[in-house]
Amino acid sequence: MNIILLGPPGAGKGTQAQRLQAEKGMVQLSTGDMLRAAVASGSELGMKAKGIMERGELVPDSLMVGLIQDRIAQPDAAKGFILDGFPRTEAQAKALDDMLAKAGKKLDRVVEMEVDEQALTERIVGRFTCAKCGTGYHDKFKRPKVDGVCDVCGSKEFTRRKDDNAETMKTRMVAYRAQTEPLLPYYGARGVLRKVDGMAAMDEVYRQISGVLSGA
Ligand code: AP5
Ligand code: ZN
Repeated sequence: MNIILLGPPGAGKGTQAQRLQAEKGMVQLSTGDMLRAAVASGSELGMKAKGIMERGELVPDSLMVGLIQDRIAQPDAAKGFILDGFPRTEAQAKALDDMLAKAGKKLDRVVEMEVDEQALTERIVGRFTCAKCGTGYHDKFKRPKVDGVCDVCGSKEFTRRKDDNAETMKTRMVAYRAQTEPLLPYYGARGVLRKVDGMAAMDEVYRQISGVLSGA
């Protein structure tokens, strides 16, 4: 099964994609994670993307399409993938249609995660991530079981994203509303769009997504 998780910054796309990957064997394809890895490695793509991401704007479509095309073509994506953070513009959505058609693959579901804007900012400013395995946490909503130690890998090192502040969040929301939200009617018209309540607790959101994937 191939799906898209669609929602504003902080909606919980990464949180749910990590769990779907762990429990359903689909592979999480996060363009944000790919770009952050490119920035950390100092690659040409990373150098182009760094400032754009720190401002909260969108990286040009031409760069994003190439990145995801290469990733979808890798063998592990054949068992089913979860797109997390892509597509984000109509041009990206159209490019995705083309690449899937050429590869003989199909898009089964687009899951919209709805969360109100005030909650999004609270989620973003409290987020931190294990520096070693990438597991996501939150100061208030998802603390490690033992303070300061990652539940999954035991690492004591955590990172916070540079774009996770209230100021940059405003720009990210403007980009979402102007460029990504129009994808909802785009997928709605095809009958693949389903909505889940992203305001619910993490387990309940997962339950709703699982329902959508099993055809509910
Ligand atoms: P990206 O990394 O994709 O960021 P984003 O879309 O802004 O989404 P986030 O990762 O911030 O949020 P999320 O929905 O994954 O939430 P999470 O699960 O972590 O993109 C970053 C940048 O890269 C972009 O601004 C852009 O510059 C560039 N970029 C990436 N893709 C691009 C593309 N395709 N085109 C162009 N540019 C691109 O949850 C957030 C927090 O809330 C966590 O701490 C979590 O623990 C907590 N939480 C989650 N669910 C719940 C819940 N149900 N209740 C309470 N807390 C919760
Ligand atoms: Zn870890």
